[in-house]
Amino acid sequence: MTKNLFAQITGLGMCVPPKILTNADLEKMVDTSDEWITQRTGIKERHLVEGETLSDLSVIAAREALQDAGLKGEDLDLIIVSTTTPDMQFPSTSCLVQKELGAKKAACFDLAAACTGFIYGLSVANQFIISETYKNILLIGGEVLSSITDWQDRSTCVLFGDGAGAVILEPTREEKGIISVYLAADGNFADFLKVPAGGSRQPATIKTVQQRLHFLKMRGNETFKVAVRAMGEAAKEALSLAGLSSKDVDCLIPHQANIRIIKAAAKRLGLDEDKVFINVEKYGNMSSASSAVALYEAVKCGKVKQGSIVVMTAFGSGFTSGGCVIRW
Ligand code: UT7
Repeated sequence: MTKNLFAQITGLGMCVPPKILTNADLEKMVDTSDEWITQRTGIKERHLVEGETLSDLSVIAAREALQDAGLKGEDLDLIIVSTTTPDMQFPSTSCLVQKELGAKKAACFDLAAACTGFIYGLSVANQFIISETYKNILLIGGEVLSSITDWQDRSTCVLFGDGAGAVILEPTREEKGIISVYLAADGNFADFLKVPAGGSRQPATIKTVQQRLHFLKMRGNETFKVAVRAMGEAAKEALSLAGLSSKDVDCLIPHQANIRIIKAAAKRLGLDEDKVFINVEKYGNMSSASSAVALYEAVKCGKVKQGSIVVMTAFGSGFTSGGCVIRW
């Protein structure tokens, strides 16, 4: 009997722009303090673009992932870019990335699931692979959140950063790679975290610009509470779909929005902190890039090894949430 197909991650790449904005820098911009930011979020610094675009960051991350996998652009069958901050409304950023990589035969689309986008993307890539539609898939989680950050709003501007992470997925008949994915959404919370204008509901006008409606707005405290619950639940659901429990987890890679959310979600899963990968202090919340970059760093630093059971869990605007179990 032929064994089942699995989607395995065979290449990893990442890119953050060189410019760093520290909490001390932010103290000079808004009424905040390093102490408040560190205690409430765990963030110490974040990387911001200085002219680089999302496609620039994505292409650098993608080239590293391709090299890691031993593939070339022309080997790709599909490119997915998960983002809420594309270079332009259209064409999709994935098409811009395709051009730079010379990935002539790849189909391309962008995916919008906010901070959960990388896990949604893993799910989509997994489906294309196990259905034998495509073989070599490039998935990028990337954001230039600084482009929608209101630098006068201290309640949000301290939280976010820019970056991109990329993975290559390929089929394998060994039981490794994506074991299960759980996705969820609840549009009743759509107002809690959004960019009000710039879409077809409220196109750009002088008034929308003056009212600062093109910037991200968040009801932080309420979002926090749902995030803790949803990230814990998504991880549990993914584990259950895989026929595993928290005891089997070698490394939890949660969305990096806030150290307190990460710790609370890990506690709900009954996981010791040494099993949780955290890098929020270096990058802040990079939305869909956070999970991709965290996975990259967890593998490269040796926290994720051959055979490790990895659980990714994320939460974002929508609200969306998702969990994924990977056997590395
Ligand atoms: O990526 C997925 C979605 N996003 C998230 O998951 C983020 C979820 N939310 C959070 O991480 C937290 O809610 C925040 C970090 C955004 C805020 O932390 P909090 O503990 O929920 O604080 P808060 O919003 O309840 O505000 C507490 C106080 C307020 O002052 P008063 O009303 O108590 O006098 C705020 O005005 O802190 C004040 N505050 C600040 N003070 C100094 C808000 N932002 C700042 C700031 N510096 N940057």
